Amino acid sequence: MWLSEKVAIVTGAGAGVGRGIARALAEAGAAVLVTDIDLEAAGRVASELEAAGGRAQAFRFDVREPAEAEAACAAAVERLGGLDIFVANAGSTARLPFLEMPKRFFTELLELNLTGTFVSCQAAARVMVTRGRGGRIVTISSNSGRFGGRGRAAYSASKAGIIALTQTMAIELAPYGILVNCVAPGPIRTEKTAADRPSEAFTARMALPRFGEPIEVGRAVVWLASEACSFTTGHTLGVDGGLTVTGIMEG
Ligand SMILES: NC(=O)c1ccc[n+]([C@@H]2O[C@H](COP(=O)([O-])OP(=O)(O)OC[C@H]3O[C@@H](n4cnc5c(N)ncnc54)[C@H](O)[C@@H]3O)[C@@H](O)[C@H]2O)c1
Repeated sequence: MWLSEKVAIVTGAGAGVGRGIARALAEAGAAVLVTDIDLEAAGRVASELEAAGGRAQAFRFDVREPAEAEAACAAAVERLGGLDIFVANAGSTARLPFLEMPKRFFTELLELNLTGTFVSCQAAARVMVTRGRGGRIVTISSNSGRFGGRGRAAYSASKAGIIALTQTMAIELAPYGILVNCVAPGPIRTEKTAADRPSEAFTARMALPRFGEPIEVGRAVVWLASEACSFTTGHTLGVDGGLTVTGIMEG
């Protein structure tokens, strides 16, 4: 299997996209530390992965806290035997109109999505550098990190920041054999949106006009996390049904 004998951490893996990423990594053979600020949710996902024949453990980890990031990385090494793959997925998709957005909303979203990605990737990279075996880091941006959108002043800024952060990490970590790439999903069906259909605003701009599934994001992460990905770093891979490449669709 692609990730046999590899150990991975996924943040925000108790639900949604992170849960799909954890499942895809486990199906590819990795042992997965399923982390989330909600330990019960992480526990449920770890149990699902184990029931399906994978190797997984749950760990509570708030990505905004450097000490918790260090503890999660240490737990991966002590409990699962290493740290080869780190996926910085935790984040919020909250939106508000620009003219009504309080400063606190903006700074809190940046703190979770962008600073949380920085804090958690830095802790993982430090452990990977110390262990001297290289590694793979995958960040999660969004199509909203590539262009603006209504209500997305904070969200788009945080997700564009993740793309730029990924590029810099790729440059600085390359000498240690650590490849850093980003996945930018389009609209993905999660537990929260299970009953919805993607809005016309999305489907009119998508070559594949449907919700993506969390496992489809996860399978892209698997390639970026594997040794098959050996000459790609600093890249942002859209998993978005063609949303970011679409121009005029009709006429
Ligand atoms: N769902 C989509 O359509 C979509 C599209 C593009 C990008 N994304 C990105 O995917 C990621 C996950 O989004 P989702 O839709 O699955 O969200 P979600 O709300 O369904 O799941 C987020 C998970 O993160 C956890 N979490 C929240 N704050 C945390 C913290 N401080 N530390 C650790 N864990 C925390 C939550 O408990 C939850 O389990 C986000 O980075 C989001 O921007 C989602």
